[in-house]
Amino acid sequence: MCGIVGYIGNKKASPILINGLLRLEYRGYDSAGIATMEDDKIVVMKNKGRVSSLYELEGIDDLKSTMGIAHTRWATHGKPSKENSHPHMDNSNSFAVVHNGIIENYHELKNMLKNEGYKFLSDTDTEVIPNLIHYYYNKDKTDDNNKLLRAVKNACNDLKGSYAIEILSIHNKDKMIVVRKDSPLVIGKGYKENYIASDIPAILSYTKDFYLLDDNEIVELTRDEVKFYNQDLKEIKKQVTSIDWGTASAEKDGYEDFMLKEIFEQPRAIRETVGAKLDNGCIEIEGLDFTKEYLQSVNKIYLVACGTAMHAGLVAKTVFEKLCKIPVEVDIASEFRYRDPLIDEKTLTIYISQSGETADTIAALKLAKSKGAKTLAISNVIGSSITREADYSIYTHAGPEIAVASTKAYTSQVVLLNILGMYFAEKLEIIDKDLMKKLKADILILPSKIEEVLKNTDPICDFAKKVYKEKDMFFLGRGTDYAVSLEGSLKLKEISYIHSESYASGELKHGPIALIENGVTVIATMTNPDLVEKSISNVQEVVTRGAKVLAITSEDIKNDGLNQVIKIPKTNEFISPILSVIPMQLFAYYISKEKGLDVDKPRNLAKSVTVE
Ligand code: AGP
Ligand code: GLU
Repeated sequence: MCGIVGYIGNKKASPILINGLLRLEYRGYDSAGIATMEDDKIVVMKNKGRVSSLYELEGIDDLKSTMGIAHTRWATHGKPSKENSHPHMDNSNSFAVVHNGIIENYHELKNMLKNEGYKFLSDTDTEVIPNLIHYYYNKDKTDDNNKLLRAVKNACNDLKGSYAIEILSIHNKDKMIVVRKDSPLVIGKGYKENYIASDIPAILSYTKDFYLLDDNEIVELTRDEVKFYNQDLKEIKKQVTSIDWGTASAEKDGYEDFMLKEIFEQPRAIRETVGAKLDNGCIEIEGLDFTKEYLQSVNKIYLVACGTAMHAGLVAKTVFEKLCKIPVEVDIASEFRYRDPLIDEKTLTIYISQSGETADTIAALKLAKSKGAKTLAISNVIGSSITREADYSIYTHAGPEIAVASTKAYTSQVVLLNILGMYFAEKLEIIDKDLMKKLKADILILPSKIEEVLKNTDPICDFAKKVYKEKDMFFLGRGTDYAVSLEGSLKLKEISYIHSESYASGELKHGPIALIENGVTVIATMTNPDLVEKSISNVQEVVTRGAKVLAITSEDIKNDGLNQVIKIPKTNEFISPILSVIPMQLFAYYISKEKGLDVDKPRNLAKSVTVE
């Protein structure tokens, strides 16, 4: 969950490390720290709070070293405090370590080390790592160049859980070691300098050339060289991947917050997602070569994901079922992985993940793969862990998403899933040509319709100002309007800390209507012409009971008792959530601003959840 940065080169390391951490704050922000190699000793500077609190530390400006490691924490073991912040040192102050992830067997290891005389200063699981490295380093009587590497390898053999680790040691003052397992880490290649980061945006302004690490790889970095080793310490070769994200995509670009910028980036993001896929006669998706025979053999599709990505799956269920006539189950990854789902070789499992690093989603994929199912990953990050595990990978190309609350990733996922559903239907030859033509046209015109929705922000802002002090809100919808309402409700919870519930409109009178009383806020979405009459009746039921209603609709509805109506352009039911979610994203955003909250870094949340 945390952010990791590292540098070895000829420039002063501390500004590069802190600058990198600032760009990664969205990954964790309860404490931050750096360790640099100053002459003959490792100096650790860390503090509770945001990365900027490092500037308050005495001596931070005096650091001269040109190599160091850095971390911004999202606490899993031990409360946020200076003592629990990373980097952590071993008892002899010879090894400094930062770590992302969880060491599941840390109790056992801690007891073993305590029996050997080691003392612990923090409550973290991480602190066992530098001490374990020290333990193995001291046990090793061979004094050669690979001694540190061996100690790290032996320590890692004992670790259970997930980790991305950077190690600095006074025994090797011109070398850094990193290792990963189930936690993201990349190496940025420069000229006579090398970078490390948990996420590409942290070091995008320094290099565009990256090595993407695989699980259990150990890397040794010097200023001039990067050497990769497998678990048996055999050297391996890795290819450089060039990333074409512009630096500006990781900057706020004049917007007050990343979230607002990313909301407004949606027309461009969708254009990138669509790319040239619809340009020729038949849909073409790079990386996919499914045949009619294969698709005919598929008995079930699982769409598996977490949070917002799972909500994109809920929208797409309708597309696959209606266009391809294949039954679809949408699953929460953390449930799927433990519920022994019915899977066989005829099952197609699709995983949706912006980051491609979500632990539960990756575990769900591994499970399905082990049962013989085909796996297809949809991610926004090229080379991310999930794409390296899956049989097939396709990309949303939405550009880096920095704000914790996902916006453009959701809309680009819904678009890509739609195109995928259409691609399947086309291959299966079960879709009417005119319908296909219309669906393609609807997608191609979507970005300009989003631009239209983004011009009408004032009424949403006004309504947000009226209701921002509320404690509870309700979202209602039918069909894909219900699926998108779940996402609207999640956005509100995440960044405004207002409790909200989303209900299928028809379900209201089966219980939740008991909660509707005078003044309760309801966001009602009604975009499907076939269902609008029914939805209006449900809205009237809440109006009658005194609810304040914000309606989002593409239909010409009467304004009876509604407090605000947001009109959005018409489109088909499969992609209407892409237009209707925008007022909901903006609504959550304006409420959060009105309450004076940190929109981009909501409490308790981190951008990618790389632990269970
Ligand atoms: C979105 O606003 C959330 N922060 C969260 O639900 C997120 O969508 C979820 O953790 C899945 O992340 P992923 O797409 O990177 O796998
Ligand atoms: N488990 C470690 C801790 O609680 C690392 C958490 C993180 O990934 O930030 O310190």
